[in-house]
Amino acid sequence: MTPLDPADIVAAARTIREGGLVVFPTETVYGLGVDATNAQAARRVFEVKGRPPDNPLIVHIASTDRLRSVAQPGASCDLAEHLLRRFAPGPITVVVPKAACIPGVVTAGLDTVAVRVPRHPVARRLIEEADVPIAAPSANRSGEPSPTTIAMARHSLGDRADRYLDGGPCDIGIESTVVSVAGNVVTILRPGAISAADIERETPGITAARSADLSDSSTGSPGLRHRHYQPRARVVEVTDGDRSILESVATVLHQRNVALSIVDDARDPLSAVRAIIPDARVREYRDAAECARHLYRWFTELDSEGADTILVRRPESVGIGEALRDRLCRASGGTTLADWLRSIPEPLE
Ligand code: TXA
Ligand code: MG
Repeated sequence: MTPLDPADIVAAARTIREGGLVVFPTETVYGLGVDATNAQAARRVFEVKGRPPDNPLIVHIASTDRLRSVAQPGASCDLAEHLLRRFAPGPITVVVPKAACIPGVVTAGLDTVAVRVPRHPVARRLIEEADVPIAAPSANRSGEPSPTTIAMARHSLGDRADRYLDGGPCDIGIESTVVSVAGNVVTILRPGAISAADIERETPGITAARSADLSDSSTGSPGLRHRHYQPRARVVEVTDGDRSILESVATVLHQRNVALSIVDDARDPLSAVRAIIPDARVREYRDAAECARHLYRWFTELDSEGADTILVRRPESVGIGEALRDRLCRASGGTTLADWLRSIPEPLE
């Protein structure tokens, strides 16, 4: 990556102020940003992405001090500010009653707005320089994976965006934790790198609950109602108990174009598969954080390489593992090894 010229950020900020669309890096995924107070610009974001109009955008601000410029004062705003003081800048998005300056198109007609303070230095400088809050969904056409490199964003949006700012590959790789707040309860609407346990540990007196059914439109985030990204290849979640099954279906595995996403750990049941089919495509990672960082890029790469099945070990539900499990479950549609084996023809002997 060639280092970003500060003049590019100044020019991009001008594009935002003039109602244009700028692709910019955040620590989670790349965003497609517009002036959050400009309804016409926000409408273009929905058009360009092919995004359903009932799926609201996240508003990005430069610092927690700016929360009250986009939110209405009150108890929720106070609690949201308390959370941001602890976790921002970083991958957390708070849902709060919206201020009048945020048009209904941004919030899909809701009277709440989702707000976050990104940590990526390019994002922060862009928002400061533009001097307006920036509404930004992930920088992909609806139904595609969130881009974690500028190349993925360009491939998805092409010349539909007015400008691109390259900030290198995203550090976290999956979208922010979205929470709503009420009383002293924080409800996780979309899991992300900041977990319920992190929130309870860092903000004593606050209880963090995971929304019981994230696909329930009355409690969950509106975005979760919509089809989530699934690669063309079938994603199959493998658990540690599947090792002996995997060893017994060597012939099946040989006949499929299988890709493996593997923990660099002998306990990973997929390391047994690797021994059986040494020429399988492999993506290796050390831990859940590294898997999250590369996941969307791997999915797009493996699709373009023609993999027909991606076997992934289900991570433990701790730390970012909780959010990674959520994304893997959406990508696999809940397909287990047993489901997959039942669905494919008997191997030819
Ligand atoms: O990490 C991220 O959050 C990235 C970067 C670019 O900041 N953004 C992102 O935006 O993932 P998007 O548009 O792909 O997802 C926004 C999520 C959706 O699930 C949406 O339903 C939810 O936030 N959301 C937005 N406004 C909301 C609101 N008022 N109430 C509940 N959920 C809301
Ligand atoms: Mg998105």
